[in-house]
Amino acid sequence: MKPKVLVTREVFDDTLELLGRHFDVESNQADTSLSPDEFARRLADKAGALTVLTDRVDEALLGQCPRLKAVCNIAVGFNNLDLKACTTHGVMATNTPGVLDAATADFTWALILATARRLTEAEAWLRAGEWKGWKLKQFLGADVHGATLGIVGMGRIGQAVARRAAGFDMNVLYYNRKRIAPELERECRATYAPLDELLARADFVTLHTPYSPETHHLIGAGELAKMKPTAILIHAARGGVVDDIALIEALKHKKIAAAGMDVFEGEPKFNPEFLKLANVVLAPHIASATVNTRRNMALLAARNLVAALAGERPPNLLNPDVLK
Ligand code: GLV
Repeated sequence: MKPKVLVTREVFDDTLELLGRHFDVESNQADTSLSPDEFARRLADKAGALTVLTDRVDEALLGQCPRLKAVCNIAVGFNNLDLKACTTHGVMATNTPGVLDAATADFTWALILATARRLTEAEAWLRAGEWKGWKLKQFLGADVHGATLGIVGMGRIGQAVARRAAGFDMNVLYYNRKRIAPELERECRATYAPLDELLARADFVTLHTPYSPETHHLIGAGELAKMKPTAILIHAARGGVVDDIALIEALKHKKIAAAGMDVFEGEPKFNPEFLKLANVVLAPHIASATVNTRRNMALLAARNLVAALAGERPPNLLNPDVLK
């Protein structure tokens, strides 16, 4: 008999085909979010789960799923998984690093350019029929070329953002808990700076840290106050890394010039004050959303599940202690 697995949300056909070769698959292709009770009920007799970042895997759930051996998240971020609880319950947890770095970095650049050049604001104005004539001072934005880019979080995605900055002749600063290797700094043409110095010097501050208790509100009122009034904040990391209320205040009072946002605290129920601001570009958590990238993420998660339930070490194991 094949092991039973649950796929919590809609995935691609090739993901289901791969899983179907190895498992008896129950999948929620209706794509509605499962309530915690429904999730627990459907997972109770399963050996594995393919989850997404909106599925909460915690003690309360794991206590109800005695057969569970692996939870494979279709995301690089894993703040929705309680790794300690997974380890306690003997459940392997995995994520999908690497395959989304380039798409996420590309989208960061979409936000940088759209925000600096006021693209969505100008488009909304045009669509509203407001364009009556060309003017020299219409929708003046900020130069991206030659500006200083400050990257907070210099993992794979931060580095991919830095590499793209060379094409815009930018001066790149980065802040990371640990300095990256000198050869990587050279390759990324990036100079390490303490966070305060980066915030004070950068024209664009872009965030690429995971979300954890350590990075909760890493950017709050105090940090925003250190930024230049002309600076732009780009946030495609995880809701909670920025204090959204403090950001809204800073944008309202022009303490910083603008923000490009792909992630929000409490999403999808983000703070409605954002909608009243002209100096933000807003996106619904789509930085990795290209056909190829999302397909590769789902396939990688499925391969992790296949390995885990075959008794092998899955390639992207997050809690190796579980094997002890
Ligand atoms: C997307 O936000 C991810 O963590 O993969």
